[in-house]
Amino acid sequence: MPRPIHLGVNVDHVATIRQARGTPYPDPVEAALQAEAAGADGITMHLREDRRHVQDADLARMAAGARTKLNLEMAATDEMRDIALRLRPADACIVPERRAELTTEGGLDVLRHRARLADLTAALTAAGIRVSLFIDPDPAQIDASADVGAPVVELHTGRYAGLAGMRGAMGAGSPAADSGGGFAADSAADSAGDSGADSAGDSAPESAGDSAADSVGDSMGDSTGESATDSSCDSASNSAGNSAGDSAGDSMVDSAAESAEFQREWSALTAAVSHAAAAGLIVNAGHGLHYANTARIAALPDIHELNIGHAIVARALTVGFPCAVGEMKRLMVEARGGRHN
Ligand code: PXP
Repeated sequence: MPRPIHLGVNVDHVATIRQARGTPYPDPVEAALQAEAAGADGITMHLREDRRHVQDADLARMAAGARTKLNLEMAATDEMRDIALRLRPADACIVPERRAELTTEGGLDVLRHRARLADLTAALTAAGIRVSLFIDPDPAQIDASADVGAPVVELHTGRYAGLAGMRGAMGAGSPAADSGGGFAADSAADSAGDSGADSAGDSAPESAGDSAADSVGDSMGDSTGESATDSSCDSASNSAGNSAGDSAGDSMVDSAAESAEFQREWSALTAAVSHAAAAGLIVNAGHGLHYANTARIAALPDIHELNIGHAIVARALTVGFPCAVGEMKRLMVEARGGRHN
């Protein structure tokens, strides 16, 4: 029996679309409930200090309404610690939001912020929250994470994803099929920005987010009964599923991914997964994963959970949230050698 692999769906980018206009829609909580119904094992929300996408009201509704588990991505600040202690998500993933907290690639610098992270980990752990540290695939950062008492690490896959390219990112025949080359540099820059070094100036006013959350609350859950295994998903599911199946092998990697740089990154990532597992840590991973580069990571037996947001939200624009989540879960389970029904 292969070890199970879990999919955490990050719904931040649903809120990003809402905040771009200050409308009451789309609702990240509704998307999350659909994701859960379609096979997600958990929901991730990042409440940023600048409230760029997810708002406090979204998080409160999600904490109350999650049917699986909520993973709160948060900066290592007193404000976020207090919110976490109040809402008690099952998991909290500490992420960098300021340049000074970053290493070169975009994960937390646990070595440098050891004392603060140890205090935060202790406070959250005492409240029953399982703490994960989002770090680069670097043995020194892994050892430091174990030292500060974190039971989980989430390995930053942004560099791997950037080097692997974009062919088949949205499933077989997707328009991103051949854009591998230029993406690596963009993604490297983005990997730091998204997990947070840059501060967005364009977030909608807080009041817009609040009223959005309130007004959609009533209708929340209307469409959550849909399942990714509905026949309406079949063709989409097959197209992504096929490309996912391929992606565990060679055809996922375009020429950029065959580079020595890619091979080095892949070796570093697989070594980091083994190192963290040997240190007794639960090993999660995420950032920049899509329908063609995920299977390769999901196939690693020590990976416990993959947290995926942008690609699923993007795919959902074409096939809907339940199908987009179902496709991703299926390719992960199949890469692990299991069967998904
Ligand atoms: N894990 C962490 C810690 C993140 O910060 C993010 C991005 O918000 C993700 C996973 C998901 O990344 P993506 O949206 O590229 O799938």
